[in-house]
Amino acid sequence: MTDLTRRKFLQATGASIATTSLFGASTAQPQPPLPSAGKHDGVAISSANGLETVKIAHQLMLNEGMRPVSAAIRGVAVVEADPNDMSVGYGGLPNELGVVQLDSSCMDGPTHNAGSVACIEDIMHPAQVAELVMDRTDHINLVGKGARQFAIDHGFKTENLLTDRAREIWLKWRAKRTDDDRLWPLGDTVPADPALADEPRPWGTIHCSAINSVGDVGCCTTTSGLSFKIPGRIGDSPLVGAGMYCDNEIGTAGATGRGEAAILSGGSMLAVERMRAGDSPEQACLYVLKRVAQQAQRASKWQPMLYKDGVPNFGLTFYAIRKDGTYASASMHGKPGSRKFAVADKNGVRLEDCAIAFA
Ligand code: GLY
Repeated sequence: MTDLTRRKFLQATGASIATTSLFGASTAQPQPPLPSAGKHDGVAISSANGLETVKIAHQLMLNEGMRPVSAAIRGVAVVEADPNDMSVGYGGLPNELGVVQLDSSCMDGPTHNAGSVACIEDIMHPAQVAELVMDRTDHINLVGKGARQFAIDHGFKTENLLTDRAREIWLKWRAKRTDDDRLWPLGDTVPADPALADEPRPWGTIHCSAINSVGDVGCCTTTSGLSFKIPGRIGDSPLVGAGMYCDNEIGTAGATGRGEAAILSGGSMLAVERMRAGDSPEQACLYVLKRVAQQAQRASKWQPMLYKDGVPNFGLTFYAIRKDGTYASASMHGKPGSRKFAVADKNGVRLEDCAIAFA
């Protein structure tokens, strides 16, 4: 690598100073100081479907001293058990064969450890299974039958997660599906077939990031994934670095929305690394969305439906908390004030506005 290229690489990545050992010659670059822990009694944030989630997570950290990752996992459990949230857990919309397959991951800042399950069936609380993978194994990812058996071995009961309402929606979708259905742009409100315009193909997901009063962080993401997906498809939610990521020196981040875009951008890890480079949480989330937009423009050469009128034709939202307790969320598009995320801290529980990348 030439000196010039090396310098550009370091500037672009915010990489630090230990360049002597990495590259052989000393090329120290100024680095922003790492964020230090702020004065607060803990913060939990989540997607807008998580008002109850953040309340529980914040209380568990504050009143019981629970580690942030476990508090987040206990918080999302209410949404996993809610049949009315059709994007997560029980009542989630199924895959194209009518089977509910769930994805989840979690990460603990202090130990820098993570766990995940993908395509798990019949288990209502995949985030809790991911937590066990993290705590009781030296593995990170378990999928399908192995994940299900691991859950059963640890005392989880199996149950049918397909509610009548979800089954009816799936039957309606199946009756109308077209041959090119698998090429849908996967937008939350943009079905390719106008006949399906009244039936968006939603994917929701819940992400929860949390920080406690001493600045330790943790996070989890849990979902039924893209509705009517090809069996076996996993999104970003069970992938460390994509659907969620944390680093106890810097902060925590996660994603909801089009999982493929969060995977291709390494979005959650990128958000944390942007905070390491000095971004605020809002700047970090917006940076990732702009990066995703550049990538979608390139991908649109072979998937034109991904990009319309100069912006990505799908929904994606990032959430981030920095080590100092500042937090934010940003969405790909929407009118200012139209996208919300949930927050709980010493000022109570509320929805706040997401920043918008393309208003
Ligand atoms: N973000 C959820 C999914 O794409 O499965």
